[in-house]
Amino acid sequence: MMPDARKRRVAEAAFERVRDQLDANTALGIGTGSTANHFIDVLAESKIDFLGAVASSKATEERLSHYGIELLDLNMTGTLPVYVDGADEADPRLNLIKGGGAALTREKIIAEASRLFICIADDSKRVDVLGTFPLPVEVIPMARSLVGRALVDLGGDPEYRPGVVTDNGNIIIDVHGLSITDPKQLELAINQIPGVVTCGLFARRPADLLLLATETDILEFTRDA
Ligand code: 5RP
Repeated sequence: MMPDARKRRVAEAAFERVRDQLDANTALGIGTGSTANHFIDVLAESKIDFLGAVASSKATEERLSHYGIELLDLNMTGTLPVYVDGADEADPRLNLIKGGGAALTREKIIAEASRLFICIADDSKRVDVLGTFPLPVEVIPMARSLVGRALVDLGGDPEYRPGVVTDNGNIIIDVHGLSITDPKQLELAINQIPGVVTCGLFARRPADLLLLATETDILEFTRDA
């Protein structure tokens, strides 16, 4: 089965888990990327009635608007019941690397503002130790070199992602060569560097539920399992 078919199936599985919570007063958090896009498609095709969505990127806003789904401001919604998003890597504790699509900062804000974070992916994203996927870091442009040197001090091999400007007007540095055995500690250490907006480690606020599509099944992981 093509990876895209797996992404569609896991998006359908996520929808089945949230549909009972949706009504005319419910706002959803929705992430960014090809798997999140499938979730938006499934949601729209279902024609289910819900209030609208807080989007983690302009790209997601455009897709939601295309379907006529109401865009909501997180400052008005308060805590969201559910956030659905993809990931670039997930470890057994449901710590994640995110930001392959450069939307990590808004994704982290929405994850923090949500009671339940459902992460959806195909099974290629599951790893024992995070770090094979280069860790994205959103950086204020004038701090690029400063942050790069600090990331070398932390044991990484930083690479500027050319041509990418985030929705917040910043740049992305991808950090290669990390074997992330203590994700929470590294997340805190990177986020302390002046000029870093945030890094793509989701360990302080990991996923609550991870749905992974294999060739034949949907695997379900919770943090407490
Ligand atoms: C965007 C992200 C995405 O969730 C991540 O890159 C996964 O994308 P895809 O579903 O296309 O594999 O973090 O910033």
